Amino acid sequence: MADTKDLVKQQYGLHAESYVTSSVHARGESLKRLVELIQPQKDWRALDVSTGGGHTALAFAPYVREVVASDLTPEMLAAAEHFIRGQGITNVEFRIADAENLPFADGEFDLVTNRIALHHYPDARRAIAEMVRVCKSGGLIGFTDNIVPPDKVTAGHVNHWEQLRDPSHHWEYPIPRLVAMFTDAGAAVEHTQELTKEMEFDPWADRIGANSELKVKLRQWLETAPEPVRAWLMPRRDGAQLFFTLHEVVLIARKP
Ligand SMILES: C[S@@+](CC[C@H](N)C(=O)[O-])C[C@H]1O[C@@H](n2cnc3c(N)ncnc32)[C@H](O)[C@@H]1O
Repeated sequence: MADTKDLVKQQYGLHAESYVTSSVHARGESLKRLVELIQPQKDWRALDVSTGGGHTALAFAPYVREVVASDLTPEMLAAAEHFIRGQGITNVEFRIADAENLPFADGEFDLVTNRIALHHYPDARRAIAEMVRVCKSGGLIGFTDNIVPPDKVTAGHVNHWEQLRDPSHHWEYPIPRLVAMFTDAGAAVEHTQELTKEMEFDPWADRIGANSELKVKLRQWLETAPEPVRAWLMPRRDGAQLFFTLHEVVLIARKP
């Protein structure tokens, strides 16, 4: 059986371009909040872990000296490079890197960012420890990911639904678990904020290449889920369109 990292490379390798054009990734509120909260400085060297389509690297590049954009999936990194270079940006470097084994020295970066990717990592604690390790003392880690509610049963339902859509989805965590992982890795969490994002079902399912049979299953699951799950995901119809809500955390941590 393929492990999660093989599945990640398979999924994102096939659908790289749809993550470059995805409006959720390109224009999400969490990206704006990350830049506002972090206040990046001209002399900083930043690392973007799991850059995907490159939107976080691109958002920070104009404000800092250099960004290293890294990802596990070669096709994804190539798509990000093509996209970022196409914007006339020249201070971004591209490196293949597994978030759980970052190929960088201790304290290399003033800023480490990681947006909407932790839920793919088999060992989230290790990836967070790696982000803290490569960050300078006094430097910042700017993190976002989709979250689940603290109630374990509802959290399990939501995660299993996400896994049905995307087998490379590993696990999403509630905010207190994420705060504990950063704290255990030796970082001081300075800010957490929960955001919600309105999701349109079809582009969300299409982005990962779901076929019509899978889309029927995902839609049915969403509309007939137990009440606490529906209270969290809030499925709703507008004409023929199905919408739901995802919750995301923006977390800023400092390495002492
Ligand atoms: C949703 S995309 C990231 C979105 C992007 N950060 C943004 O702001 O638009 C998820 C990315 O995580 C990457 N990824 C998954 N597992 C990884 C791992 N173990 N190490 C590094 N990257 C990984 C995938 O290749 C994919 O490009």
